[in-house]
Amino acid sequence: MDNINTNKDFWDELCGTHLFQFLGLKEINRESLKIFDNYYLNMYPYLKKHVPIEVLKNTNTLEIGLGFGTLSQYIFENAAQYTGIDYAKNPVELVNHRAEISRNTSAKAIQGDAKNLPFPDSSFDIVVSIGCLHHTGDTAKSVSEVHRVLKNNGTAIIMLYNKNSFRRLAANPYKFFVAKRKKTFKNFDEYTRGSYDANIKGEAAPVVDFYSKKEIKKIFGAFTLLKIKSENFDNYHFHLFKKEVYWPREKFLNNIAKIMGLDLYITAKK
Ligand SMILES: C[S@@+](CC[C@H](N)C(=O)[O-])C[C@H]1O[C@@H](n2cnc3c(N)ncnc32)[C@H](O)[C@@H]1O
Repeated sequence: MDNINTNKDFWDELCGTHLFQFLGLKEINRESLKIFDNYYLNMYPYLKKHVPIEVLKNTNTLEIGLGFGTLSQYIFENAAQYTGIDYAKNPVELVNHRAEISRNTSAKAIQGDAKNLPFPDSSFDIVVSIGCLHHTGDTAKSVSEVHRVLKNNGTAIIMLYNKNSFRRLAANPYKFFVAKRKKTFKNFDEYTRGSYDANIKGEAAPVVDFYSKKEIKKIFGAFTLLKIKSENFDNYHFHLFKKEVYWPREKFLNNIAKIMGLDLYITAKK
């Protein structure tokens, strides 16, 4: 299987499509994007804390991995100059469409690979990449590219999946055991990838890697690491003694998610 083409094809379905449909939205336009973005930013209330407006002000910022472009819009509304890059065509077109309908002429998105960024050394003040580099197949190479294109003293804000999350260590092994009887997945690896990123047909993302804080410290060896923060959690819905129990994820965001959350937010200086 050619992972490179498969990866590009997989991500041409915008990540966020499940949410867009869940919200009952049909066409992409100014109004539907507003509804989507409000919901998205409420769902991840810590996102703006990790990418603060004060840090973006007056900067030339690069974003890698665009998806539905909610964060892209927030960045280009606050930075002086914005460049977005994504492997797949559709996220690039959507971010350029967002810039156009916002009449923002200092923002542009292009297609390209995080492992081989088409920019000269020391080009950007800030590089933001949320939930992307662990899909590239070579996170370490992508991080070294982030380092190369950052100016001295520049800041990288990166989110990678947490190897030691509650989902990976506890929930998924149990759920896989139950789901295995239905034989919907080939193996645990495919089941796990699908539990993080699946398309509308339910197929798992071809490449998903996970990192511990210790591994992150190694990969970011060329940087000064400022912080690594654990965030995000799942909803839990199960039966206990024949009673239906529902625990919304909001219950966990300020406690267990800070230790065994799904995602690790890294802030590092060159
Ligand atoms: C899970 S989405 C995250 C999007 C967005 N940052 C968010 O948080 O909603 C991952 C994005 O990374 C992009 N991507 C995957 N591999 C890539 C690569 N090698 N280079 C650049 N972008 C890549 C995908 O096309 C997709 O848009």
